[in-house]
Amino acid sequence: MDLAYMAALPQEEFTERRQKVFAQMQPNSALLLFSEIEKRRNNDCDFPFRQDSYFWYLTGFNEPNAALLLIKTEETEKTVVFLRPRDPLLETWNGRRLGVERAPQKLNVDEAYSIDDFKSEFPKLTEKLTALYHVADRHPWGDKLLAESAVKFYAVFDWQPMLSEMRLIKSPNEIRLMQQAGQITAFGHIKAMQVTRPNRFEYEIESEILHEFNRHGARFPSYNSIVAGGDNACILHYTENDQPLKDGDLVLIDAGCEFAMYAGDITRTFPVNGKFTQPQREIYELVLKAQKRAIELLVLGNSIKLANDEVIRIKTQGLVDLGILKGDVDKLIEEKAYRQFYMHGLGHWLGLDVHDVGRYDDERSRTLEVGMIITVEPGIYISEEADVPAQYKGIGVRIEDNLLMTEYGNKNLTAAAPKEIDDIENLMKN
Ligand code: GLY
Ligand code: MN
Ligand code: MN
Repeated sequence: MDLAYMAALPQEEFTERRQKVFAQMQPNSALLLFSEIEKRRNNDCDFPFRQDSYFWYLTGFNEPNAALLLIKTEETEKTVVFLRPRDPLLETWNGRRLGVERAPQKLNVDEAYSIDDFKSEFPKLTEKLTALYHVADRHPWGDKLLAESAVKFYAVFDWQPMLSEMRLIKSPNEIRLMQQAGQITAFGHIKAMQVTRPNRFEYEIESEILHEFNRHGARFPSYNSIVAGGDNACILHYTENDQPLKDGDLVLIDAGCEFAMYAGDITRTFPVNGKFTQPQREIYELVLKAQKRAIELLVLGNSIKLANDEVIRIKTQGLVDLGILKGDVDKLIEEKAYRQFYMHGLGHWLGLDVHDVGRYDDERSRTLEVGMIITVEPGIYISEEADVPAQYKGIGVRIEDNLLMTEYGNKNLTAAAPKEIDDIENLMKN
């Protein structure tokens, strides 16, 4: 499948975003955003480059060592980029550069300068401006350039709340890319179910998932993949992925692709040998019931908190029914007894970052709006050391999907990854 053509956002989208930022800036101010830089992995080898999400959001420019400067006076608005100049020798070794000459047309900006001239040009460009929108400590290399340019502003504002709120509500184009990220991520999980069997190693399954992402044009995972057999599932951020998968255990896989910079984030839990045992089935059905109820509740006007309160009630009642918790359900909820088995939140914003930006409000009580994309990921984790009936020890289950908020209810972007017990068992049989 050729998805590359779907990945390119039109340049106008980035321009429109900058216009929305201009409209929120006060007159006689500048907004400054630095790109990411290369990060060393060993000696002279770098990690794969990943652009800063905010910088990408306003430029669509994927090179390191760049800066975006928006200048707003009483009369005019001007967009300026600083970037690496062209360099035939370095480009032969390390890859092509857009360069100063081509930048204005390609990025649809008014002016471009070499990043090497930042110190001399920034003071000229910002002369007579009174305020700067900037976030310190995000990119120390940029802070250093700014300090060296020695410009003093009357006021400095944080651009983060403004840009985060914009990123929280996804545009139709962004939704299109997120749908692809969800779909390709689902392909990876389907593949994992097809190839898992006893005695294969966790990393072998990880490699099959990454291969599936890659061959659909998603070159990178959106976070480090978790392939956790048996009790490893009870370590929430287990990423060693170096153990053999045991007959009779479950495996929990939390893996997502990054497609055209946008994140997918799916968790599925299934039996290594393709067949759930009775105790595994009981815990799994409880988590699935909670997840389905949460999906019903995660619609416009409700909040993650509202859905999570219901999830907590369902799980607490279920754990009491199974004899894992003992006592009165209301009292157990009040005492947060479930915390021993469910120690994370129900969901988070999803977008350019897997844990995307935007205000949550107290306990994630923010009202859901059209264009938001969230995860829904209840889990129950019963470690080998837990003081519970023996048959439940070493069972960790999480089920995670990605939901788009629409006017007509939510849309599950990751529904293609099976989660019903029968569907999983049937898929694994073949
Ligand atoms: N994969 C990270 C998370 O689910 O939050
Ligand atoms: Mn996840
Ligand atoms: Mn998640």
